[in-house]
Amino acid sequence: MELNIQRPRRNRQSEAIRGMVQETRIHPDNLILPFFLLDGTNKKEEIASMPGVFRYTIDLALIEAKECFSLGLRNFILFPAIDEQHKDKYATWSYHPNCFYLKAIQAFKSELPECTVITDIAMDPYSSDGHDGIYQDGKILNDETLAVLAKMAVAQAQAGADIMGPSDMMDGRVGYIRQALDAAGFTHVSIMSYTAKYASCFYGPFRDALDSAPKHGNKLSYQMHPANKRAAIIEAKLDEAEGADFLMVKPALSYLDIIAELRQTSSLPIVAYNVSGEYAMIKAAAEKGWVDENRAIDEVLTSIKRAGADIIITYFAKQYVITQAGLK
Ligand code: PBG
Repeated sequence: MELNIQRPRRNRQSEAIRGMVQETRIHPDNLILPFFLLDGTNKKEEIASMPGVFRYTIDLALIEAKECFSLGLRNFILFPAIDEQHKDKYATWSYHPNCFYLKAIQAFKSELPECTVITDIAMDPYSSDGHDGIYQDGKILNDETLAVLAKMAVAQAQAGADIMGPSDMMDGRVGYIRQALDAAGFTHVSIMSYTAKYASCFYGPFRDALDSAPKHGNKLSYQMHPANKRAAIIEAKLDEAEGADFLMVKPALSYLDIIAELRQTSSLPIVAYNVSGEYAMIKAAAEKGWVDENRAIDEVLTSIKRAGADIIITYFAKQYVITQAGLK
């Protein structure tokens, strides 16, 4: 049989050649590591559905963050676990000067001034209803929620945050938050919008981590339907027009086509959130010995980058940076 003159295997024949032709690489600069934060001191609690991920009080979080920083991870996204006593209908604790989350932002920026602090803007961690917006009679009130989100954003900017991460999916929130930040003198603070955030089962372990699951109903009236792709383009165009600096797709793995689509639609940096359930699945399968954990992590993160994400938010960031040296 006559073989074609093309022999693609020539470009795979040695480690050095494979390295030379490798199209996708992940650098620690492209990774964002999430932190779950607790009020108080000297506490560290492992999250049952996320082995290897902890809720830390600020003091211990900073020790961990400094270690990560020395490994080359400079970008952190912070989430608060709020005591039930501080939750209410209007999430007022989110912008209260005594809220430990605002103190945590301050502490990260004063102890690690070279790091990037990305925040979370949504009502759910502080809401007695467990929703991202104001819940009334079975509905989420969009425009009333914007005022709360803007207060939260200004408080976080005052605490020194670099980038705001609105994860709430209310209509018009990027523009509203942008205006509020600018009016308060924070024109330099960026917005990383959760542009295409789908109503996903893969957020389950995160809601365990923060005890933030909805007390009634679900999030389908604001998070996107998993079946829809054009809806992501509509969201991306709006967020860009409203002044977003980054566009995010979340979750990552079941939405690689959305990442690729937004990469085409926009010239802004595209961020993918490799969410808690995606983390938990690899950990669980590895624990059973069904997949090689570090190879699975490398393959998954590479697939997200290859699909078009510039930046990946992942609970694997530290483990990846430590173990990837040995992987090819
Ligand atoms: C809250 C928020 C969620 C996540 C990030 N911000 C959960 C939700 O919308 O219910 C999920 C992150 C993850 O699962 O890792 N607005």
